[in-house]
Amino acid sequence: MNRGEQLALSRIGVLTSGGDAPGMNAAIRAVARRAIYDGVEVVGVRHGFQGLISGDFQPLDLGSVGDIIHRGGTILLTARSSAFLTEEGQRLAVDALAQAGIEGLIVVGGDGSLRGAQALARRGVVTIGIPASIDNDLPFTQWSIGFDTAVNTALDAIDRIRDTATSHERTFVIEVMGHSCGWIALAAGLGGGAESILLPEEPFSLDAIIERLDRGRARGKRHSIIVVSEGTASATDVAQAVTSRTGMETRVTILGHVQRGGSPTAVDRLLASQMGARAVELLEAGAASRAIGVREGHLVDDDIEEALKKPRQFPHQLAALAAILSI
Ligand code: F6P
Repeated sequence: MNRGEQLALSRIGVLTSGGDAPGMNAAIRAVARRAIYDGVEVVGVRHGFQGLISGDFQPLDLGSVGDIIHRGGTILLTARSSAFLTEEGQRLAVDALAQAGIEGLIVVGGDGSLRGAQALARRGVVTIGIPASIDNDLPFTQWSIGFDTAVNTALDAIDRIRDTATSHERTFVIEVMGHSCGWIALAAGLGGGAESILLPEEPFSLDAIIERLDRGRARGKRHSIIVVSEGTASATDVAQAVTSRTGMETRVTILGHVQRGGSPTAVDRLLASQMGARAVELLEAGAASRAIGVREGHLVDDDIEEALKKPRQFPHQLAALAAILSI
């Protein structure tokens, strides 16, 4: 069927999966309201792919998605389902969708979730993926829902820590989330004026970090911030090395899951609202197996197989700029 030729859809489903991301609720709301506007019924799948296997479905009406656009988390709940990774789990999921008369499924989540959508698409399920992950590690989109909020949360924490670091003349090592992607560390570190940022995408040297601290101290600087992207180095080891090699007093802060919660920023609400609506429009136009993204300020959609095969881009020039500006 050509895109543009309207399908008479009667019922679609939506689920959120993997780590929650602020803005997921705004996406659910947009999916439900855009579909209902066109007379399409919407079923929410609770607990992600786990709920798909067990048929944990909940009809969504206009009211059930009211008062959620500003709330973090996901009203549909989420999970990381190991059962769905099995043949049997996926077969059960396909059967449950068919039994519930769900003609198209919108999956809101990160890399693992969109790979789940891909697995369903390969089994013939009409599926659209919406990128939502604080890590911003999806290769087919510049921005994923939740990243902007998480960066602002991390930035706010860094600003607060800087106040106490200045007062006590200490060096703080702050670990931020990101899985194997340094986007949160880079954005929050650059925005927060960190002296050093340790990223999984770039090699780092403890000697260079110490040298940088020494240079700062030589010109009278008495406090510093080092941002570490999770998994890149142990924040505690870095802090101990700084203390033993410079004599500076150090403290470690691991921001952790605080970065996953909270009210989504305007950027994430706008992104989620547009992506949710676009996903419904794609289903109505007869599209299947697509992943929505944003590139150069515009919403785009790619074949999900192609989308997930793209190489991940990382802005090394921003990391270089951060190093120059924190000299
Ligand atoms: O993918 C989002 C994320 O928050 C990563 O940054 C982090 O590595 C992971 O999820 C933590 O997952 P969990 O909440 O399952 O421990």
